[in-house]
Amino acid sequence: MKNILLAMALLTAACNQANHDNDSFGEVNGKKVSLYVLTNSKGDTVKITSYGGIVTSWTNTDKQGKKSSIVLGFDSLSGYLAKPPYFGALIGRYGNRIAKGKFTLDSSTYTLATNNGVNHLHGGITGFDKVVWDVTEHTDSSLSLSYVSKDGEEGYPGNLQVKVKYSFSDEGLKIEYDATTDKATVINLTNHSYFNLSGNPSNNILGHQLTIMADHYTPVDSTLIPTGEIKAVAGTPFDFTTAHAIGERIDSVPGGYDHNFVLNKKDNQLEKVAELSEPTSGRHLEVWTMEPGLQFYSGNFLDGTIHNSQGIALQKHAGLCLETQHFPNSPNQPNFPTVVLRPGQTYHTVTEYKLNTVK
Ligand code: GLA
Repeated sequence: MKNILLAMALLTAACNQANHDNDSFGEVNGKKVSLYVLTNSKGDTVKITSYGGIVTSWTNTDKQGKKSSIVLGFDSLSGYLAKPPYFGALIGRYGNRIAKGKFTLDSSTYTLATNNGVNHLHGGITGFDKVVWDVTEHTDSSLSLSYVSKDGEEGYPGNLQVKVKYSFSDEGLKIEYDATTDKATVINLTNHSYFNLSGNPSNNILGHQLTIMADHYTPVDSTLIPTGEIKAVAGTPFDFTTAHAIGERIDSVPGGYDHNFVLNKKDNQLEKVAELSEPTSGRHLEVWTMEPGLQFYSGNFLDGTIHNSQGIALQKHAGLCLETQHFPNSPNQPNFPTVVLRPGQTYHTVTEYKLNTVK
């Protein structure tokens, strides 16, 4: 009897393994990389790789019944190893820019890698988007990842233990971020998915309608570092408090949109902060977050040199990012919400991308 039970337990474990099994996606620095599939009851799928915690695709049916992915990505690891601009990736230790790669915390000055002109961008040369994460749990609808960022990595102080859980449901994709440190540090985690709700990245996103619940934004200097001012959006092309086509006023924004919006929401509460819709597919995306800011990036630096796995050249504005975050350069801006994490504290933040199709 005991043996039968044991055999059954082994068989169940093997089946679970097979059920939730993942495809090998290759190898980076001798570490195996896998691709995981999450599904919901509508038959939509999200694929995520342990390399950079990258969301490689999010497949959904449009109002014509056609299946396509609403995010830019590749079918194979090689596309990502060619260093596309953060497609679908987890970003850390600090999302967006830190001026001149320097900040002072508790009277120590830290020097970070500078990888964006004179500034530090998205965690440095080897940010969290370019490391292999450990997979701690995988079910049909969720994936939990962890990564230990060592004291001194890219110049940041403290050993940082990071956990990210992706959960997929009929509502959409939820991302939960948690972290602890053994030394005071700064942290600002996000996901850098590029959305194109038409499902076809040869269409640009200029016809997408966007609403951002933000009465203010943070203007930037010529290197995209906030000036420190919190400016009203009223009467400017940054006023998305009611829906506007992205292309409507983009020509009056030099370089295109790449700005942090100061969300109207209450501190630390999960609230709806943005809505994006695309008329031909009928798709509608809502962004919910606990974060105080949202970087709206209109894919300005895409220039057709990168081709996706279907061979489509990804031109300027082939996708757009809605990166939930603390404000860029916060470590050097005392008037911005703090990004300091200290030993004994737990960083915890949640963002959800909710998707539906209006028939
Ligand atoms: C973020 C930045 C942009 C750009 C993209 C990646 O959105 O704010 O300036 O660096 O990432 O190209």
